[in-house]
Amino acid sequence: MKVAIAFSGRGSNMESILEYAKDQPEIEIVGAVTNNKKAAGIEIARNYGIPIHVMPWVTPESGCSLLKSILETRDAELLVLAGFMKILPPMFFRIWNGTTVNIHPSLLPKYKGLNTHERVLEAGDQISGCSVHFVTEELDGGPLIGQSIVQVLSKDTPDTLAARVLDFEHRLYPAMIRLICEGTISFKDNNTYFRDIVLTNPIVIDTRQGISNAQRFYTGESNVPS
Ligand code: GRF
Repeated sequence: MKVAIAFSGRGSNMESILEYAKDQPEIEIVGAVTNNKKAAGIEIARNYGIPIHVMPWVTPESGCSLLKSILETRDAELLVLAGFMKILPPMFFRIWNGTTVNIHPSLLPKYKGLNTHERVLEAGDQISGCSVHFVTEELDGGPLIGQSIVQVLSKDTPDTLAARVLDFEHRLYPAMIRLICEGTISFKDNNTYFRDIVLTNPIVIDTRQGISNAQRFYTGESNVPS
């Protein structure tokens, strides 16, 4: 499947996807898009030889039109948001409904929006994590695909928690993209499907108990689903 990646800053999730895709014939990265000409991720995309588009995002409508034309130019079939800090307007989803995914650094539906780690610590939560979901008009509210659960430690600061969660983002996101590209996961009628079954709960990787074989399968570290 032809995949485009949109980012606004550091680009570490994009890097993990580019690295993983090197060994995955079903994931073909056809381009990267950013709204930020100073984004560190630009250098990462260049190093991987990925065509990079830097585009202005003046209004949601003009940004959206540019983004759509870039995706068409590249023949992209799946748009992966990896730290893309602009909200896509409703017009985007007239075409790109069910073909855009995002990663969010919390266990959605908890802590939509920004400053998730601060809010997790303020609430005294024992667990946090990250979520991969299809993107719909509802901000951080589209159907879930997969989550990694991460233990919150009593000594955690927002930065230490963010770093631990990010480590699992880098494993979860490429694996979920692979499941979409190979056709195992899809989107229909505002639901996530696992093959022909509605996925009522996301695929969960619980990192607190070590990673099981089944979890290794979902993260692409094993070819055996048991
Ligand atoms: C990640 O924490 C991701 O969950 C969120 O934005 C951050 C992007 O980081 N959506 P990076 O640019 O991929 O390093």
